[in-house]
Amino acid sequence: MYVVGITGASGFIGSHLVAACLERGWSPIALVRRGSPELAALGIPVRSYRIGEAPPDLAGIDLLVHCAYDAQADNASACEALIRRAAASGVRRLLFVSSLSADPQAASRYGREKAACEAIVAAADGMVVRPGLVLGAGGLFARMRDAVRGIGVVPLVDGGRQPVYTVTVGELAAAILDLLAADARGTFAIAASEPVSMAELYRAIARACGRRVLLVPIPYAPLLLGARLAEALRIPLALTVERVRSLRNLRAVTIPSYPQLPRAPRPFSPEDCRC
Ligand SMILES: NC(=O)c1ccc[n+]([C@@H]2O[C@H](COP(=O)([O-])OP(=O)(O)OC[C@H]3O[C@@H](n4cnc5c(N)ncnc54)[C@H](OP(=O)(O)O)[C@@H]3O)[C@@H](O)[C@H]2O)c1
Repeated sequence: MYVVGITGASGFIGSHLVAACLERGWSPIALVRRGSPELAALGIPVRSYRIGEAPPDLAGIDLLVHCAYDAQADNASACEALIRRAAASGVRRLLFVSSLSADPQAASRYGREKAACEAIVAAADGMVVRPGLVLGAGGLFARMRDAVRGIGVVPLVDGGRQPVYTVTVGELAAAILDLLAADARGTFAIAASEPVSMAELYRAIARACGRRVLLVPIPYAPLLLGARLAEALRIPLALTVERVRSLRNLRAVTIPSYPQLPRAPRPFSPEDCRC
């Protein structure tokens, strides 16, 4: 039985990690900036954690999963501060939830920040998990589904040929806990080994939701310009400059299989897109 501290425990992936810990008889502790009725209903202890502020005391925590991310904050400095506090508090292992788009040369700030955090975590002998696009009722996938269910018009950069590697939120939570239990070392890409194209993914979402979607091919440069203009004019759009840039991070990668994981994420299934 482990005591597991989880930053971002109120979020999409974090809340599934909390549930997966409970299923295994482990004791999760939520490190969150505000409590939630869901955490309170489950009786999960909460310690106040806010990216950008000094981390709380982590005494009593065996394993720490750093899942929170704040697009407005300096996530690398926050990661460093959290690791220092973890070491001082006697935390045994730290696992950082990164992304397949982590890359020091990434077009998006997100990809570059994830790469910077990965380097900090690796230097502290922490573990890195790089999930693909996480399928379920939250995160980026839910925003894609909302776009299809809403106006039903989706701009497609480069014909929507970008490879998208997927994993269900349940598979990801189980893999993270399996890696912690195995006391694994290194970086782990967690996704199905075969990608689906962005265009295929949107079509699968539309079919699953019983909606029609109009996929509008548009080159990268004008889309980026439009997003920049909208931001300058303070027009709120789902497709922000950062989101457009992040499309540039999508590339073919190799997803290895890992001996520490009993089950590899299953191939993409349109079933996992259901509304
Ligand atoms: N979803 C995906 O497809 C995907 C894919 C690859 C990697 N990831 C990574 O997985 C992690 C979780 O993503 P998610 O999809 O679960 O997103 P999410 O639902 O938006 O969860 C983000 C969590 O971060 C917390 N947070 C944000 N700003 C914070 C701050 N300043 N201080 C403390 N906590 C803060 C949020 O707390 P509040 O509830 O208080 O807002 C929330 O609990 C992120 O690191 C993300 O980069 C996600």
